[in-house]
Amino acid sequence: MTAPSSHVAELRDVKMQFDEKKVLDGVSLQVNPLDRLVIMGQSGSGKSTILRLILGILQPNAGSIFFKQFEITRLRRRKLQQVRRHIGMVYQYSALLSSRNVRDNVALPLEELTDNSRDEIDEIVDAKLDLVGMKDSKKLMPSELSGGMKKRVSLARSLVMEPELILFDEPVAGLDPVIASVIDELIISLTEKSQVTSVIVTHEMESAFRIGTRMAMIYQGKIIEDGPPEQFKQSNNPVVAQFLSGSTEGPILEGSQDAIATK
Ligand SMILES: Nc1ncnc2c1ncn2[C@@H]1O[C@H](COP(=O)(O)OP(=O)(O)OP(=O)(O)O)[C@@H](O)[C@H]1O
Ligand SMILES: [Mg+2]
Repeated sequence: MTAPSSHVAELRDVKMQFDEKKVLDGVSLQVNPLDRLVIMGQSGSGKSTILRLILGILQPNAGSIFFKQFEITRLRRRKLQQVRRHIGMVYQYSALLSSRNVRDNVALPLEELTDNSRDEIDEIVDAKLDLVGMKDSKKLMPSELSGGMKKRVSLARSLVMEPELILFDEPVAGLDPVIASVIDELIISLTEKSQVTSVIVTHEMESAFRIGTRMAMIYQGKIIEDGPPEQFKQSNNPVVAQFLSGSTEGPILEGSQDAIATK
């Protein structure tokens, strides 16, 4: 038996490959209570893959993954579904159902996963929409919302089950800089108010430094730096330095993600 984890989430020596393509090559990462852990890395480096592994949507080729005391990689489907209720997910493209209005989108997890009455559900939906500043938009359809409003609605939806961990995949991608900082601030205030731990995947550096209480950078299948934001700013690792500066000069080459595929 593997020893249970004392962290909110943990990856232990996780390897993941799709066909011939090695994506994660021994990733170990711990998420501690109340962390806002930002995972950074190039496009295609495996950031979304890490979130899918924590949710148990993907099974790794090797290693183990924990959510609290539960070893996600060993749970039966029924138990996995129960455990997943404690994890909220905010998808990159908001993933709202276009045929349902705002209220019905936010209510969806409660309708599917609880026996709450309609009145109870409405009360929870109202409270969460209020938290994200969208209480007056309950009747609107997704097609009537701006990108920032969609993001707010998907934030509200991720909160209705009172999760202990929320996973954000590129929460500000595609938003203008002002709306992006508003959403960043919202993520900070919601996670603080609700005392919830979060993992945020992003490659927007400004956003990463605004939100993160801790950061991890993935490069060529491995976590190459993991620590508080100050540590990243002072990092001697040339890959980290190049990534933070966005410079074209340095070890990161276009297509360098393919390098581990052939090893
Ligand atoms: N289900 C899958 N089947 C095959 N290949 C996949 C699958 N999921 C991901 N990959 C590949 O694994 C690699 C990592 O994908 P992932 O989506 O985790 O990257 P990412 O870091 O989130 O990138 P981005 O910043 O572009 O979102 C990519 O090369 C991708 O093509
Ligand atoms: Mg991704």
